[in-house]
Amino acid sequence: MSEDTAELEARLEEQDAFEPPAEFVEQANVSDDAIYEEFEEEWPECWERAADLLDWEEEYDEVLDASDPPFYEWFTGGSLNASANCLDRHLDERGDEAAIEWVGEPSDEENVTYTYEELHREVNEFAAALRDLGVGEDDVVTMYMPMIPELPIAMLACARIGAPHSVVFAGFSADALATRMESADSEYLVTANGYYRRGDALDHFEKTREGLGGVDHEVSDVVVVDRLGDDGHGYDLEDEEHYYAALVADHEGAAVEPVSRDAEDMLFLMYTSGTTGKPKGVKHTTGGYLSWVSWTSQAVLDVKPEDTYWCSADIGWITGHSYIVYGPLALGTTSVMYEGTPDHPERDRLWDIVDEYDVTQLYTAPTAIRAFMKWGSQYPEQHDLSSLRLLGTVGEPINPRAWKWYYKHIGDESCPIVDTWWQTETGGMMVTTLPGVSTMKPGSAGPPLPGVDARVVDTTGEEVDAGRAGYLTVNKPWPGMLRTLYKNDERFIDEYWAEYSDTDSDDMDDWVYFPEDGAKIDEDGYVTVLGRVDDVINVSGHRLGTMEIESSIVGVEGVAEAAVVGGSHDVKGEAVYAYVITEDGYDEDEEMRDRIVQGVEDAIGPIARPEQVIFTPELPKTRSGKIMRRLLEDIANEEELGNTSTLRNPDVVEDIQQKVGGD
Ligand code: WT7
Repeated sequence: MSEDTAELEARLEEQDAFEPPAEFVEQANVSDDAIYEEFEEEWPECWERAADLLDWEEEYDEVLDASDPPFYEWFTGGSLNASANCLDRHLDERGDEAAIEWVGEPSDEENVTYTYEELHREVNEFAAALRDLGVGEDDVVTMYMPMIPELPIAMLACARIGAPHSVVFAGFSADALATRMESADSEYLVTANGYYRRGDALDHFEKTREGLGGVDHEVSDVVVVDRLGDDGHGYDLEDEEHYYAALVADHEGAAVEPVSRDAEDMLFLMYTSGTTGKPKGVKHTTGGYLSWVSWTSQAVLDVKPEDTYWCSADIGWITGHSYIVYGPLALGTTSVMYEGTPDHPERDRLWDIVDEYDVTQLYTAPTAIRAFMKWGSQYPEQHDLSSLRLLGTVGEPINPRAWKWYYKHIGDESCPIVDTWWQTETGGMMVTTLPGVSTMKPGSAGPPLPGVDARVVDTTGEEVDAGRAGYLTVNKPWPGMLRTLYKNDERFIDEYWAEYSDTDSDDMDDWVYFPEDGAKIDEDGYVTVLGRVDDVINVSGHRLGTMEIESSIVGVEGVAEAAVVGGSHDVKGEAVYAYVITEDGYDEDEEMRDRIVQGVEDAIGPIARPEQVIFTPELPKTRSGKIMRRLLEDIANEEELGNTSTLRNPDVVEDIQQKVGGD
């Protein structure tokens, strides 16, 4: 432990509640705690306040149509266009202000500012180009792109012409791309030839082509951004492949009228991991989603047009969709976007950017904070971070130690921290303190947002007493919620509603959303999220399905069976532990281990790479033949093991324990 951490701990260790700084409260977008009561009394009309943040072409007739739960509809009868809300309506007043400040990874490269005017122009040009390629309303366009400006441009161009996008994280494998394009029947792809990572020009195009090769239907067009220029890996494009720059140049000055979209029309699809091996296509809509991310950006992130706001997530995940692109741009602020890693060229890169751009809000993940803490406070200390007004975290639980480090060393004890709980499915934030209102308790996300009816319940759905662990549920619908899983209403009900709802009822009160997280609640109604209770693990804030990883391991030659669990990890929160049984005649050696790791990288991507591969002759199973995952988790965490007497094969446990400890 470094000196400063020790000193900090001594002073802050005892403190478990922090008040919002007075200076912050004075200027906060929301500073009156009456909002909680008002929203409760006015529900669901309270959500008009969110819808009012947008420009509607056609006013909606009804805030909520709950006639067919859980297929709720919000702002029915209304119509609007997301790109017009994020761009056109800001032109008069903020046309010359920066919409996106883009920072490439190579530190000697020029950063690029897109004013609202410039972003509007390029979105129009690319929208015209997409149309020319044949993209029509409701055609799903897939994007497989790194953190370059053309990604938000392509998203907004799609929104402009009413074509839903489906962004696939660039770190995912070729197989993952193919599965998602196929599931969405997507015939168009926007990609890039590569990107910079820790100083290297990484090729992205070979992986793209490999993925395309795995798509069963015909893909009509592929647009390629030339990110690497002279550092590119020299490809000749095929007929259906087009350079982005050439398309945009061909449509210079084009104006595309924003398509009027029904509030309930799909804005985008986002694939996420669930219990089964097949990723789920989460469907978000134009009116409800955009209202939700705008309202939460304003109330929780305290975004104002004159801010320079930075969310350091990747747009390939929901956090980037909601809080780099749609929320901030709908509010007309400046959104910072960074291509690379926080330790390139040095471990002060983030602080360098905060300093250079006078960033006012920083929204990042606990994993990143734990890494910064490990690297030491000398890095932030080299920079002036006094422009910061608010800090946020998302994606996984934050331990009080990391929270306090963030509070002291980044926020100088003068910025409120919002620890925001939400999911791909919820569209935006659900449980968090309001920074200008609430006391903060490190380690606890806070109360549900005003108008959000989140509870902690037991297996029968009854609320648990303060201090006890239970399951998080959301007992009323909200505008930003997913509407269904793409073309799979049945799975939508099974996955999220079946557990706690009376699925035969058409009364909204009988329907309860289950996010599959465990949680505790305290006497003040603050929720501490404990983590997933399904077979999903959270590595560095990235959601991975254990079944997906298992099936990729079982696909490796010589593997008979595999079980994957999350084991706790200092920095990543959780790491992948793979227990593997080999087939007869295969050695449990390094070569086998490498092939397993490679198998996972090929099927999903390097983020899912196992931290440890543990060979075992057997997996602990119950008498009915179910793998005891809880036990494997405890072994991975080197924890005291609970009752093993229900096992069919108790002897195997000690054997596995020795292997994990011995590695
Ligand atoms: C899962 C959702 C939220 C956008 C990024 C991740 C976990 C998320 C928190 C938090 C504790 C959190 C939950 C959730 N999670 N935020 N503040 N505290 N856990 O979205 O990939 O859909 O993952 O992330 O387990 O269910 P996602």
